[in-house]
Amino acid sequence: MQRRVRLGLLIVLGLSGFAAVGACRRETPAAPEDTSATPSPSPASRPLTVAFVQVGAESAWRTAETRSIQTEAGKRPGIELKFFDAQQKQENQIRGLKSFVAQDVDVIVLAPVVETGWEPALREAKEAGIPVVLVDRGVNVTDESLYTTLIASDFVEEGRIAGRWLAEKTGGKCSIVELQGTVGAAPAIDRKKGFEEIIAQHPEMKIIKSQSGDFTRAGGKQVMEAFIKAEGRNIQAVYAHNDDMAIGAIQALKDAGMKPGQDVLVISIDAVRAAFEAMIAGELNATVECSPLFGPLLFDTIAKIVAGEPVPKKIINQDRLFEPHEAAALIDSREY
Ligand code: AHR
Repeated sequence: MQRRVRLGLLIVLGLSGFAAVGACRRETPAAPEDTSATPSPSPASRPLTVAFVQVGAESAWRTAETRSIQTEAGKRPGIELKFFDAQQKQENQIRGLKSFVAQDVDVIVLAPVVETGWEPALREAKEAGIPVVLVDRGVNVTDESLYTTLIASDFVEEGRIAGRWLAEKTGGKCSIVELQGTVGAAPAIDRKKGFEEIIAQHPEMKIIKSQSGDFTRAGGKQVMEAFIKAEGRNIQAVYAHNDDMAIGAIQALKDAGMKPGQDVLVISIDAVRAAFEAMIAGELNATVECSPLFGPLLFDTIAKIVAGEPVPKKIINQDRLFEPHEAAALIDSREY
């Protein structure tokens, strides 16, 4: 009965046919139909249930991502969005994911906090016939059929963009401290990789300290304080894997009597509004965009999946770099 309810729903949503639904839902052996039970609600009254397993609320970027997905869900008739905040813990995310499988939701959207350790939970979703869409971060699995598609930025390229900018600004000579994102997270791994790839071409660019600040402002400040204690004025540049950590580091530099943006170059990733404010204040030298505005593309993609239309295995956002000279003109048009 349940599958027929979904068909009715999809027609209401203007999404195409039942065969298509079968393409993304596991076909279960036909069970004898129970005609004695209370009549089921009309198909038209059943929403398409999309469950979003979010990392947490560690950064301004993250809350913008949540807002984008929730706002878009609210604009699409027939979508019911369930939301789970995992507070940056993979075990919570796995618990949330399994609970949504048990609830037999129609689609699961997962922003995985770390890359590894997903196979068993994703397999449960697959065996239940529930398509999983990864947003923002990828997973490291041997069986790629465990998820339907990944919608994300190219984090390696973001690291390269930051590295190229710093190489150009410093003439390829610089002592850098690096504030890494959450240990094991795709953006932390890839942003480090892309950045290192570029500075490897410049023998006089060196990362003198590197540690995780967990993508938070407080983490960035705390780690930067330790870097300043250890290296003091040897530090010529800060490369932070996100703006929140850069803003924490800027505070630590100011507390130590240094001038961020002048004595020490600061570059980070995300392009949140606070980064534009910091650039206008002359304290941040550049930020690389990583758009969290997944909502519209996510729900367009879900509509295709549910309709049985092919979707690419990876859908990659294009990112660019922003500098202080354009910050004032652009800040009011920033959506996050
Ligand atoms: O996965 C994207 C990263 O996660 C963002 O750069 C960061 O701000 C967030 O916490």
